[in-house]
Amino acid sequence: MTTHFPYIRAILLVLLSTLSIHMSAQDSDIRSGKLWLDDQGQHINAHGGGILQHNGTYYWYGEHKSDHTSNALVGVTCYSSTDLIHWHNCGVALSMSDRPGSDIERGCIIERPKVIYNHRTGKFCMWFHLELKDQGYGAARYGVAVSDRPEGPFEFLSSQRANPGQWPTEFDSRALAIADTLHIARYQQWWTPDWYRAVECGLFVKRDLEGGQMSRDMTLYVDDDGKAYHIYSSEDNLTLHIALLTDDYLHHSDRYTRVAPAGHNEAPAIFKRQGTYWMITSGCTGWAPNAARMFSAPCIWGPWTQHPNPCIGPRADKTFGGQSTFILPLGNDRWIFMADIWRPRHPSDARYIWLPIDFEDDKPVIRWCDEWHP
Ligand code: GAL
Repeated sequence: MTTHFPYIRAILLVLLSTLSIHMSAQDSDIRSGKLWLDDQGQHINAHGGGILQHNGTYYWYGEHKSDHTSNALVGVTCYSSTDLIHWHNCGVALSMSDRPGSDIERGCIIERPKVIYNHRTGKFCMWFHLELKDQGYGAARYGVAVSDRPEGPFEFLSSQRANPGQWPTEFDSRALAIADTLHIARYQQWWTPDWYRAVECGLFVKRDLEGGQMSRDMTLYVDDDGKAYHIYSSEDNLTLHIALLTDDYLHHSDRYTRVAPAGHNEAPAIFKRQGTYWMITSGCTGWAPNAARMFSAPCIWGPWTQHPNPCIGPRADKTFGGQSTFILPLGNDRWIFMADIWRPRHPSDARYIWLPIDFEDDKPVIRWCDEWHP
C-alpha cells in the first residue's frame, strides 16, 4: 500500500487537473455542438429557440423534443440564466393539451417558439409555428399564447393563418391588377421563368388570400420604437413575410411585406445595427443543413438586399452543420448567432451552435469557435 501511494497520488493529481481544465472550459465557455447540461445535469431541451432578456435574466424558450419524435409531446420549455452559461430548468412554459381536437393537442407540431415582453400590458407573448395533430405540415399556422410571468404557465389563445383577406402593404393598384390575372392552375410547373415572375407578382398570396397566408418557420422582433414584427416563411416556404403586430403583440395588424419572393428561405433570425436591419436565414432542406443566407435593409419594410453567406471557414457552406434560429443582442455592438444542429433520428439529442457575430467592412461575419466566452 505504502509503496503504491506516490503512483496513486500522481494518477489522482493528473485526473483532477484534467477534470478541472475540462470543468473550467465547460463552466465559463460556450461550446457549440457539445452537450449543454442544465442545473439538473440534463442536456438542455429547448430547440429552435429564442431568448428574452428581462430584468437582468435571460429566458431561453424552445421546443421540447423527445427521443423518437419531433412532434410536441411535452410543449415549450423555458430555461433561465444570468450569464448565458449556467441554465436553470424552469420547466414547461406552454403545455400540450389532452383535449381531443385542441389546436395544441399533444402530438401536434410546435416549432420555433419565441417570446417577447409587452411593456404596455405587462404580458409575456409567445408566438410559435403550429401544425395541427396528424396533418403533417399542411396547416401552416402560427399560434399565440400569453403569460403574466416569463417562465409561464402560458395560456394558449389561438392559432390561424396570417393576415386573411390582406394583400401585402406594397401592393398598389397596378400590382393588384397584375395579381388579378394570375391563376394557380396555369402554373403547375415550378421554377420556370414564368412561374418565378408569377410568384413575385403574388401567385401564392392570391391563392391563400381568403384563408390567410401560410406561416411556418418564424421569429419575432421588437424594434426600438416598441413596434413588434412576426417574420415567417410563407407561400409554401417560397417567400418570407414580415407582419406588424398590434400594440398588445397578440395579433397581426393588417400590414405586412414580403422578402425575397420565391427565394425559398426559412429559419429567419434578425437584428439591427446602426440603423441597418440584418436577417440571416437558411435554404429549405428540412433537417439537413445548408448554406446560410443574409439580407439587409435600411427599414424593416425593405427594400431587402441579399448578401453572400455570412459564415466563414470550414463547413461554412453548411452553416457549420446547423440552421439559424435566433440572434441575441448582448449590447456594446455584440450579438450571438444561434443555430440548431438537428438530429432527426434522435431529436432530443439535437445540439446548439452559438457563435459571436463579427463585422468586417460593416457586414456581419460568423466564424466557428470551439470555445468562447460571451
Ligand atoms: C426545417 C425547419 C424546421 C422543421 C423541419 C422539418 O427546415 O426549419 O423548423 O420544420 O424543417 O423538416
